[in-house]
Amino acid sequence: ATVGALAGKRVVITAGPTREPIDPVRYISNHSSGKMGYALARAAADAGAQVVLVSGPVNLPVPDGVAVRPVMTAQDMLQEAERVVAEGCDIFIATAAVADYRPAACAGDKIKKTDEAMTLSLVRNPDTLATIAARKNPPFTVGFAAETTDVARYAHDKMQRKKLNMIVANDVSVPGLGFNSDQNAVTVFWPSGEQAIGPDSKQAIADTLVALIAEHSNKVGNS
Ligand code: PMT
Repeated sequence: ATVGALAGKRVVITAGPTREPIDPVRYISNHSSGKMGYALARAAADAGAQVVLVSGPVNLPVPDGVAVRPVMTAQDMLQEAERVVAEGCDIFIATAAVADYRPAACAGDKIKKTDEAMTLSLVRNPDTLATIAARKNPPFTVGFAAETTDVARYAHDKMQRKKLNMIVANDVSVPGLGFNSDQNAVTVFWPSGEQAIGPDSKQAIADTLVALIAEHSNKVGNS
C-alpha cells in the first residue's frame, strides 16, 4: 500500500476463527487461519495506520507495530471489538470467520459417549460486523463474504443488509484459495462499483485492498 495512505487513521481488524465450546475439551470452529486478516493488519500498518487486531485463536506472528486483543468465542469477539472501537476507530475490517451458532450450553464436565445418537442444540451468535456498522457514528466498515455460489449477489445483499461501505467477496469454492491458503482471489464491491483482485498472495491482495479502502474511506469522509 502507499506509504502514509492511512497516516493517523485507527484501523480495527477482526481475524481468525472463533471457538464455541461444547464441553471442557471440545469445540465448534472452522478452517480460518487468520492469514488474510493478519496480512491486512500488516498492510494497514505499512500505510501508516494505528492497527488493532481482534483475533481468534491462530498460529501467526503479529506484524510489527500491530496490537492484538486475543478472543476465543463469537461473544468475546463482539465484546472486545466494541471495546476497541469505542476507544476510537476510523476503519473497521471484518475478516474473521465467526461461528454463526454456538452450543446452547457448555457442559461443565466432558460429555460421555453412549450407544445412542446425540443431538447438540445450537443458538445464534451475535454479529460483530453488523453491530459495529449499526453504531451511531460508525467507522468506515468493510465486510468479507465467504461464499460458494452466487458470490456477487450474496455480497451485494450482505453489504446492504449489514449497512457496509464495502464488501470483499471471497469465492471459497476454488481449491487452493481462501481458507487457510497463502493465496486468495477476491472481488471488492462498494455501492457504485467493483474490482477483482488476484489470484495472488494474501499479502499482495491485502496491499491492494488497503489502497482501495484508503481511497474510498477518504471520499466518505468518516473521521
Ligand atoms: O483466515 P484465512 O485462512 O486467511 O481465510 C480468510 C477467510 C476466507 C476466512 C476470509 O477471507 C473471509 O472470507 N472471511 C469471512 C468469512 C465468513 O464466514 O464470512 P460470513 O459470510 O459468515 O460473514 C460476513 C461478514 O460478517 C464477515 O465480514 C464476518 O467477519 C462478519 N461476521 C459474521 C458473523 C458474525 N457473527 N460476526 C461477524 O462479524
